[in-house]
Amino acid sequence: MKLANKNLPPPNATLHRLVKFFGRQRLDKTDLVALSGSHTIGMARCVSFKQRLYNQHRDNKPDMTLEKRFYHKLASVCPCTGGDNNITPLDFASPPKFDNSYYKLIVVGRGLLNSDQVLWTRKDPEIAHLVKSYTENESLFASPP
Ligand code: HEM
Repeated sequence: MKLANKNLPPPNATLHRLVKFFGRQRLDKTDLVALSGSHTIGMARCVSFKQRLYNQHRDNKPDMTLEKRFYHKLASVCPCTGGDNNITPLDFASPPKFDNSYYKLIVVGRGLLNSDQVLWTRKDPEIAHLVKSYTENESLFASPP
């Protein structure tokens, strides 16, 4: 368990940290973007994204990259106090479907975890290009090079 915690990035990780964590496992940026796409299925607990809603930069303010309507939707399942185990889909557009909607959500500010949304900071051109190409081409996501 200790080793898992050391080698797994936290949900509030920055892009820089994600690249570093993956790099330690000899996984590159394509691996990071493609594997993160597994969040097209499954659920996350409120505690995993609460910081984004209420205290993103330790300033008692939300993450400004969160799209407004999505923010309100999340706030309704994840209150500021309590509700830590309330769950919501990582890909609310098509929760049970393994498709590229995870990427389509990210580019409109509807990624659930910080680690999802930072893939679209566009500070890293290679990562931004990968995300965009997966939004446009589902088969590329299904079998990355
Ligand atoms: C990029 C770094 C990643 C971070 C920071 C991350 C973090 C998380 C977190 C916080 C949750 C929700 C857990 C909870 O709230 O209980 C989650 C769920 C999940 N993650 Fe990741 N994850 C990452 C990458 C991956 C990868 C590479 C895979 C698989 C290839 C993966 C597969 C899943 C699945 C399937 C779920 C849903 C689990 C369920 O519904 O029970 N994640 N992840």
